Amino acid sequence: MSSASPALQHDVSLRAYNTFGIDAKARLFAPFRSAEELRALLQLPEVQQAPKLVLGGGSNLLFTQDFDGVVLKNEIRGLETLDEQADGTMLVRAGAGESWHGLVEYTLAQGLSGIENLSLIPGTVGAAPLQNIGAYGVELKDAFEYLEAVEISSGQLRRFSREECGFGYRESVFKGPLRGQYIVTGVVLRLHRRPQANTSYGAIRTTLEEMGVTEEPTPQQVSQAVISIRRSKLPDPAQIGNAGSFFKNPEVSQAKFDALKAQFPELPGYPVPGGVKVPAGWLIEQCGWKGHRAGEGRYGVHDRQALVLVNHGGATGHEVRALAEEIIASVRERFGIELHPEVNIM
Ligand code: EPU
Repeated sequence: MSSASPALQHDVSLRAYNTFGIDAKARLFAPFRSAEELRALLQLPEVQQAPKLVLGGGSNLLFTQDFDGVVLKNEIRGLETLDEQADGTMLVRAGAGESWHGLVEYTLAQGLSGIENLSLIPGTVGAAPLQNIGAYGVELKDAFEYLEAVEISSGQLRRFSREECGFGYRESVFKGPLRGQYIVTGVVLRLHRRPQANTSYGAIRTTLEEMGVTEEPTPQQVSQAVISIRRSKLPDPAQIGNAGSFFKNPEVSQAKFDALKAQFPELPGYPVPGGVKVPAGWLIEQCGWKGHRAGEGRYGVHDRQALVLVNHGGATGHEVRALAEEIIASVRERFGIELHPEVNIM
């Protein structure tokens, strides 16, 4: 046992730390509340030698086995506004262990606009840049200024600008070339005093109309609309285990899209540079999976959004992964499109 860190725990169940509610175990587990505490942990020989997994809210993760290493649980808190900039924007700093939605609520309470479309996304602030979270026409990168991260090998604190983060669709350098090398400790966003309503996503406009909002909506109203859409479609992880979209929406070439469209005239698609993005939820639903239940009903595909796999209770990560593979195979066979998981499979 290490006397240096009483925080280091052994054989800890991770069930409460992943929104899928999978009962995997970590050999070692340690929470940290500051960059200094994290650095101290990284100096322990037991931690240095072990594979490391940093957990925020555990909302984009599927455990298929016990984790034979150390789980570092990010609990760095803190929300603050930094200086108001000459152009009327405001910088807001958040500790990586804060809940993402808590940050959205904080910015709305400060009268700031920029991330209201990202309301109610599960998970923590520190996990948001890893996959450049996005919803309803806005991505994190649109409001991102810089982040601070500790390099695991050296313990050094470093700043990453937006360019250095290499953001893409559900992508960043921290999922690619720098995977496993840095731990995000804080994120700084640039937000606006004047509302920057983005209601390009059709469902937002319809919902605002239903709410009786006819003029330019306030950031609070956009947030309310997003919350109501999410609640109507996406399962609440507190009630049904899930990790949001299980797959990414695939991109196909224009030629491939045209050929598929001739065969399946209903096929939706959104133009993107270099091709067309197709909603995976539609493809999966067409293959008959929506609302499907497996393992005597213990797990399956959500009945209101086919892109979301759910654990109704007692599923293993192995079973969920096997279901995901069946879905991938059926979409491949029917449409010739390869789906890729969006969640991290451990
Ligand atoms: N659709 C179906 N059947 C379904 C689900 C979707 O036909 O069961 C089709 C419909 O045509 C619908 C279209 O897919 O119009 C788009 O559906 P939706 O607006 O629900 O969005 P999505 O493409 O399925 C993406 C993100 C979500 C995000 C929403 C809203 C990815 C992988 N997912 O889903 O993000 O909330 O857009 O912007 O890009 C997440 O990443 O965990 C997540 C929930």
